[in-house]
Amino acid sequence: MSSTDATPETASREDVLIVHGGTPLEGDVTVRGAKNLVSKAMVAALLGTSPSVLRSVPAIRDVEVVTGLLRVHGVDVELDGDTLYMDPTSVESAGVEEINVHAGTSRIPILLCGPLLHRLGRAFIPDLGGCNIGGRPIDFHLDALREFGAVVEKDASGTHLSAPNGLHGIRYELEFPSVGATEQVLLTAVMAKGTTELRNAAIEPEIIDLICILQKMGAIIKVHTNRVIEIVGVDELKGYRHRALPDRIEAASWASAALATEGSVFVRGAQQADMMTFLNVFRSIGGAYEVDDDPVEGGIRFWHPGTALKPVALETDVHPGLMTDWQQPIVVALTQADGLSIMHETVYENRFGYTSELRRMGANIELYSDCLGGTPCRWGRRNFLHSAVIAGPSKLHAADLQIPDLRAGFSHLIAAMAAEGTSRVYGVDRYITRGYENFEEKLLGLGAKIERPVTK
Ligand code: EPZ
Repeated sequence: MSSTDATPETASREDVLIVHGGTPLEGDVTVRGAKNLVSKAMVAALLGTSPSVLRSVPAIRDVEVVTGLLRVHGVDVELDGDTLYMDPTSVESAGVEEINVHAGTSRIPILLCGPLLHRLGRAFIPDLGGCNIGGRPIDFHLDALREFGAVVEKDASGTHLSAPNGLHGIRYELEFPSVGATEQVLLTAVMAKGTTELRNAAIEPEIIDLICILQKMGAIIKVHTNRVIEIVGVDELKGYRHRALPDRIEAASWASAALATEGSVFVRGAQQADMMTFLNVFRSIGGAYEVDDDPVEGGIRFWHPGTALKPVALETDVHPGLMTDWQQPIVVALTQADGLSIMHETVYENRFGYTSELRRMGANIELYSDCLGGTPCRWGRRNFLHSAVIAGPSKLHAADLQIPDLRAGFSHLIAAMAAEGTSRVYGVDRYITRGYENFEEKLLGLGAKIERPVTK
């Protein structure tokens, strides 16, 4: 069993939330910086010769994990409210054991390679963690690092990298616009000798925000048309001051929760520009929203207008397509739509595992290995169950649910809140705290009827 697996039998007795469903969520929540930018921004601080300041940092476990990784490498990290101070002036190599404490907890260690090779000439990465949503190989990362001039050696403890002749710019084309591999190339190329040209790069808003950070540090990065990014290596980068862009995955999770529970939630901090594709889908399903673009107190209010939800055919894609991390909460909402909906997952091969729990709650969802309703993708040929047909509306009833991963976990919570009766959701501390700040307080503030079991 992997370090991220748990069953109702093995999950700790406390790691369960009791959800009394059937209450519409009503009220306000605030989203802070995006998990998938903040963790990378923390890694970028390693490249500076002076301290960095990152604002709007959420209190989530992934931030704790990266804090630990930075600290074992000699970075002084202090959190004051939601502002993170990182002083990398005394960066030093860490021991394999110290780094391995963080094995299996996050995907971020792989992104430390470039910065550590630049600062120290060597790096070590433990076995990676993150969500169980597919094979999640790191071949693009290691291949690009080798091209930059890194020597990669694996042993039982993990992967060791060195750069005996330094790192130099490359011309590189990604097989798929991977978010992590694009970040890997950016974080390595900014200080490599010469120019790097990355083709078929990912251009998610979190990547553009990371580019803004690197530019503040002194990097020269040009984003061309057609997913081409050109990076001119520089000799030195300084620290940055930056406010992280808001978390559009969390924002969409609350929006879907409002829809599925027939409620109304104002998501303070949600930004229209980063959520355009989601907003189009939300409206097509029959949800309503209103944008308030006040720079401080603004956000988006999402609500169920009281009319029947409509079925849709959707497919996930890289930006500007429908995010794979929006798929799960949308599927829960689609169980309440009147007719047949299709969701074709094209980013990960195995991201529908969570639907078996929804089926136990009464949802009518069938999985197919064909590329249904959209463009043929790389998973269709390889027989992965990566298309879902959702027949609604289904009356959801309570169940004991085991969370399989972070985003699916929040969707299980949404389903439990939309269902009749009392559900027990296992694995909330293990998974949901990785990416959702104060989710219990937020849920209680929205009127959700949730509680922890009484421990004797
Ligand atoms: C990031 O993962 C996010 N994680 C994921 O969010 C998100 O789902 C994903 O991007 C896609 O948007 C973080 O930012 C920490 P990828 P990442 O490399 O970078 C294949 C969440 O819940 N691939 O874009 O690991 C891969 O298997 C998480 O917040 C290779 O084949 O994703 C996948 O099919 C879950 N070889 C596809 O590319 C590689 O070397 C996209 O993955 C790398 C990736």
